[in-house]
Amino acid sequence: MDYTTLGRTGLRVSVAGLGCGGNSRIGRGTGLGEDESVALVREALDLGVNFIDTAEAYGTEDLVGRAIQAVPRDSVVISTKCLTRHGGNLQSATDVVRALEDSLGRLGTEYVDVFHLHAVAPAAYAHARDVLAPALLREKEKGKLRHLGITETGPHDPQQAMLQQAVHDPCWEVMMLAFHMMNQGARRQVFPHTRREGIGTLLMFVVRNIFSVPGLLAQTVKGLVAEGRLPARFGDTEAPLDFLLHAGGATSLTDAAYRFARHEPGADVVLFGTGKRAHLRANIESILKPPLPAADVRTLYDLFGDLQGVGLDLPGRVQAKA
Ligand SMILES: NC(=O)c1ccc[n+]([C@@H]2O[C@H](COP(=O)([O-])OP(=O)(O)OC[C@H]3O[C@@H](n4cnc5c(N)ncnc54)[C@H](OP(=O)(O)O)[C@@H]3O)[C@@H](O)[C@H]2O)c1
Repeated sequence: MDYTTLGRTGLRVSVAGLGCGGNSRIGRGTGLGEDESVALVREALDLGVNFIDTAEAYGTEDLVGRAIQAVPRDSVVISTKCLTRHGGNLQSATDVVRALEDSLGRLGTEYVDVFHLHAVAPAAYAHARDVLAPALLREKEKGKLRHLGITETGPHDPQQAMLQQAVHDPCWEVMMLAFHMMNQGARRQVFPHTRREGIGTLLMFVVRNIFSVPGLLAQTVKGLVAEGRLPARFGDTEAPLDFLLHAGGATSLTDAAYRFARHEPGADVVLFGTGKRAHLRANIESILKPPLPAADVRTLYDLFGDLQGVGLDLPGRVQAKA
């Protein structure tokens, strides 16, 4: 495993981070038993992954808690989150402090390394910063969390308006953002700021549905051609990114996606979600490989560098082609 420093938190983290949400939710979304999900997390730990991301909303905190009982607490970096809205209403400071306590209980730990406000929409940002963050910073002083983070809502904020505000506020030490081969906006609008401010970055949506659900990439590309956002020649192919697959290049689309994200300047941890042991191993292997060939990276920049908001589906809302 390769390790890096998560911005000014100073935490040493694996460059591959296990995401316990998304479609797979370490197998909860794909039919694994609880013991198998716990075993998957333990296998990730055995392979050197020390960054585990979960959330109240994923329903996986208790399984992460069981998995980490097997290792010294300071050998693993636990990231979890609470939503800023409940039933359409903004959460109060009391609500989020209670949510933190509940997460600690489910995780079976006295502190979390990174506690995030989860999927914060631009309209909720001022409340998150001015009401919720101060309450959580008081919990930080008590040692309940080590670092405060914020995550964006890719599907509802494709232009990353929330993070573009948040990068100027000193309370956030870590940010989780959507970035992938066809959604590279963070290179212009987020990474220059996170790098300057020493904010740690966690990349999500690197594969998600667009690079894993059969037929979805071609369907998405045809839609972009129809909207005039990609050249017409892409409308004719069922395999628009297969130019990346060649000797010396990527071995699969997911291999390409993980390597592209991992080597993006400004990327600290690449989150990957899976319920399958074979995917766990393959994804770690990809994240640890060298960059894609420079010519392929250049082509991805040239073709897709200006796209925003592509492939940011919510879990379970995908129209896969057979
Ligand atoms: N706003 C937020 O805070 C937010 C939003 C989204 C995600 N996240 C975090 O980011 C993490 C990453 O999640 P993500 O949803 O963005 O997507 P992701 O991890 O990129 O999704 C991977 C998808 O591709 C499949 N897959 C994984 N490896 C594969 C491989 N080698 N070959 C083929 N298919 C493969 C997985 O299913 P299999 O089970 O079949 O492997 C899963 O459906 C989440 O777990 C969560 O921790 C946070």
